[in-house]
Amino acid sequence: MTERDDVLHSWCVQSGWNAPTVVGGSGAWLHLEDGRRILDMSSLAECSNLGHQHPRLIAAIKRQVDELCFVTNAWGAKPRAELARRLLELSGFTGGRVFFTNGGADANEHAVKIARMAAGKPDGKVIARDRSYHGATRLAQALSGDSRTKSESNAEALGVSHVPPPYAYRCPFASTSDGQCGELAAAAVAQRIDEFGSEHVAAVIMEPNAGTNGVVAPDSYWPALRHATAQRGVWLIADEVMSGFGRCGEWFAWQRQGEAARPDLMTLAKGLTGAAAPLGAVVLSREVATRIEDQMLYTGLTYCGHPLSCAAGVAALAAYEDEGLIASSRRRGAELLADLRVLQSRHLVIGDVRGGHGLFAVIELVSDRESRDPIAPWPQLAPALKALSAEAMAEGVSFATRGNLVLLAPPLVISEAELSHALSLLDRLFAKYFPTSKTG
Ligand SMILES: Cc1ncc(COP(=O)(O)O)c(C=O)c1O
Repeated sequence: MTERDDVLHSWCVQSGWNAPTVVGGSGAWLHLEDGRRILDMSSLAECSNLGHQHPRLIAAIKRQVDELCFVTNAWGAKPRAELARRLLELSGFTGGRVFFTNGGADANEHAVKIARMAAGKPDGKVIARDRSYHGATRLAQALSGDSRTKSESNAEALGVSHVPPPYAYRCPFASTSDGQCGELAAAAVAQRIDEFGSEHVAAVIMEPNAGTNGVVAPDSYWPALRHATAQRGVWLIADEVMSGFGRCGEWFAWQRQGEAARPDLMTLAKGLTGAAAPLGAVVLSREVATRIEDQMLYTGLTYCGHPLSCAAGVAALAAYEDEGLIASSRRRGAELLADLRVLQSRHLVIGDVRGGHGLFAVIELVSDRESRDPIAPWPQLAPALKALSAEAMAEGVSFATRGNLVLLAPPLVISEAELSHALSLLDRLFAKYFPTSKTG
């Protein structure tokens, strides 16, 4: 049985959907109905950070099924309490609160709602940036600076304003260094707040480090953004939906820059449960939580903080910790970036490699290193890259591609041998699909 004719699939043209059925998994591998095994180099949607069918997650969900499947937020639930406590401890948001959602988009929607409420600016503007992704619900899509959907989201009507991204390889500010690009991108946010008047701006929402649109912010960016927003009394929301839980080498990517980089709110999903169950969260600082403590919170979704998902979350945090996966992602991310630099030295088509703070890296493909022209105009997927990823899949490795980018975000549990197998396949396929670009 195939779902091809009956399910409306996301992010694709329906007639073009023709994916195999996954029936199981283990570690970094997906098991297909036809018996094949596929090495998953993207953690599906950058979410299965603990790999597939992690025994600890399965056991925790089974235990919770036996004890209590569901109770709404109007009642307490033990795994929800435990998960909130652990998240506040791990993030150091002492005295804050956690609002649970079903996933990332609704976490961002709620973060904006809460930020406006806590600022006492119900119609306050929200500043986001181009080349970002915050989700596909109405407001989350408007927050996203995603060129695929920009024309259909009326950002302005929803009070959202975009600024250029800290995209150092193609710096919109014509900077002369990565550091300067990060500083100028933060200065552009400050300038936009000043243009509106800070009394009219409720929040700035950004991905602190890496995003699925391929931007990896220079280290100078987030601290400068924190400084600019704090100076102007505007809440800073870190969208950690993708970058959290080890993906950027820390529990939360902003932690790379220490205490001074702490945001006011932080949104989570994906790796929060290792994707074993759907769950998102908004973590509020003490100050934000205090401001709304005595106000009526007119929001919430039936399944917010579902006990099965929270039990998976508690188990996921324990697995990251006990298996040392945050630190190992940091170490292995650096090794991955070094390996990608070697690949870059062998293939002229690789214009840039970046990331590597954890097991997340971007390979950017260009037709000419001097001009940096992309192999296809963004966000169109280059035909040669499409063919390359189809052949990789036929050889048993799944890579995420977008436009002229290959995104590497394998499960944090991937072994050295599996990672090196995937990189040698890429090396071979770059030589095949971009033959004139081979340097040695
Ligand atoms: C940074 C970021 N924010 C939000 C989202 C949306 O999360 P969800 O698909 O769970 O709604 C994503 C998903 O890719 C993401 O990468």
